[in-house]
Amino acid sequence: MSPTRTPARSSDAPSSDARASDVLVIGGGIIGLVTAWRAAQRGFTVTVVDPEPGGGAARVAAGMLAAVTELHYGEQTLLGLNLASARRYPDFAAELTEASGQDLGYRRCGTLAVALDADDRAHLRELHALQHRSGLESEWLSGRECRRLEPMLAPGVRGGLRVDGDHQIDPRRLAKALVTACERAGVEFHRTWAERLTVVRDRAAGVVTTGGEQLAAGQVVLAAGSLSGKLPGVPAEVLPPVRPVKGQVLRLTVPKRYAPFLNRTVRAVVRGSQVYLVPRENGELVVGATSEELGWDTTVTAGGVYELLRDAHELVPGITELPLTETRAGLRPGSPDNAPLLGPTALDGLLLATGHYRNGVLLTPVTGDVMAHVLTTGELPEEARPFTPGRFSTALTEQTV
Ligand code: GLY
Repeated sequence: MSPTRTPARSSDAPSSDARASDVLVIGGGIIGLVTAWRAAQRGFTVTVVDPEPGGGAARVAAGMLAAVTELHYGEQTLLGLNLASARRYPDFAAELTEASGQDLGYRRCGTLAVALDADDRAHLRELHALQHRSGLESEWLSGRECRRLEPMLAPGVRGGLRVDGDHQIDPRRLAKALVTACERAGVEFHRTWAERLTVVRDRAAGVVTTGGEQLAAGQVVLAAGSLSGKLPGVPAEVLPPVRPVKGQVLRLTVPKRYAPFLNRTVRAVVRGSQVYLVPRENGELVVGATSEELGWDTTVTAGGVYELLRDAHELVPGITELPLTETRAGLRPGSPDNAPLLGPTALDGLLLATGHYRNGVLLTPVTGDVMAHVLTTGELPEEARPFTPGRFSTALTEQTV
């Protein structure tokens, strides 16, 4: 084990603060929370710094666990991690339900990706072939077969892919349950912002909060979603290359008289844009999502809402009857290769768990396990090695040589 990778307990932290923790997690979204929970289960003393734990992108996300239907060309390595996390979901959800005493809205309902015209159908056929080559299970259905499964679909649907292995969870419930599980496991919450990383003798040593409090720790995990790329005090060469990617999402309510409106997640690419409808058991219907490179903007726009409703209406005309109960925009933490950054950085004592982009909810279980392993051993487990933050510093070095 390299000396720069040696995990430190609080007793090793370069601070005389008696309240230093073994692990300090910056960011209380689902990634920070699962890291904190798993670390606490391993016997670490853990602190989370976040003004509103359980918030972040999970408040907006639809919660699709769509390793198969969201497969993209060039993302085969990420697929391995996505599948590893999808396989963990049943046990993870059962354990978290037990630990928190809360229902997560985990629904093993499957997904139907449909085509509305000949181009969409050709696109879906390509995806089907890619899934097949990747050893994934999906079944091609005619338009009639799609409508037999989901009678609310538009009569013009030309065919689709049935993926029974792509499920869903309610991300807000997931986040709330993680907060409770953390509290029950002894995690301490500081409901404030981390203003700056503290570095002492070339080692991350904790943070200073906006309230001026100094929090010391043996190891610091930066898990602040899209904000991870701009925490003051983090050396430039270590700062993760994450950026905010805006997603606008709508929530509608299915009145009891229309239930079940949809039995599974239904999605399509309409005029080049993804649209998905995720039906919850409690009657909520989530419609998402735009994907916009607009920096830190989280405005809900008339154009965004219009496009989502227009595309969703083409798929499922009956949605115009449903009450529109919420519109919201969130920021996905995008990385240069759309995959997360997990594990130790070149700054001793600083680890990353960020850059999960479209897959934060799906990757929550595997991220918790990976981070607990790294915090305990100083090493990334085999399945997470391709996601080391060092892959970007290597690229930078090569570019400048
Ligand atoms: N994974 C769905 C989205 O990011 O919109």
